[in-house]
Amino acid sequence: MIMDGNGRWARERGKERVYGHFEGVESVRACTETAVEAGVEYLSLFAFSEENWGRPEAEVTTLMELMASSMINERDTFMANGIRFRVLGNLSRLSEKLRAAIDEMEKATSGNTRLTLIIFLSYSGKWDIMQAAKRLAADYAGREDEMAGLDISAFDKYLVTAGVPDPDLIVRTSGEQRISNYLLWQSAYSEFYFTDILWPDFRRDQFLAAIEAYAGRDRRYGKVK
Ligand code: FPP
Repeated sequence: MIMDGNGRWARERGKERVYGHFEGVESVRACTETAVEAGVEYLSLFAFSEENWGRPEAEVTTLMELMASSMINERDTFMANGIRFRVLGNLSRLSEKLRAAIDEMEKATSGNTRLTLIIFLSYSGKWDIMQAAKRLAADYAGREDEMAGLDISAFDKYLVTAGVPDPDLIVRTSGEQRISNYLLWQSAYSEFYFTDILWPDFRRDQFLAAIEAYAGRDRRYGKVK
């Protein structure tokens, strides 16, 4: 999910942008419930990009606080519904307090198997590819000759999404039709679904409509059926 349009949703109602983010959290909750109901195994939410650090400080602070409080508030729901919670991104940029809250939630929910809910926080696709390349190079220092034999799956292991399947479907709300530095490497064969609906209005019915559209897609992965 590329959750877009919170600011516009609020502005349309003559309210501050952050009000849209608060309503956006309700959509996160609705979509998580719908994912569990529909048997979706992985739900990934692009909550904050590396570029989003450039937003006004007050908005960044509110978003971070919202993320921390939502996470803590949902603990019982996660446990009751078998939801494994993960946060992926450049976590070194987060406050120690938020990192500790994430750590605790990840540990508490690590045994849950029904749905993996991944929040991409301080994440960007180019950053991910770059950090993977650096870590791979460091691992192979002194044995560079072995690098020629590496394949795609060897590189996959260095991305922060290691072990997570590539997204089948990428949904973007609010009418924008771009990837905005989300899962660049991992979206090579993802299906895309764009809707004009703003994120705070994207709830159960809208998610089910996206799943239905996806079910009608013909995925060939560059091959002939
Ligand atoms: C995009 O709308 C939305 C964001 C950058 C933030 C999304 C975050 C949340 C909904 C909170 C997430 C909470 C949890 C628990 C994961 P925008 O501000 O870019 O809207 P605009 O394009 O209309 O300005």
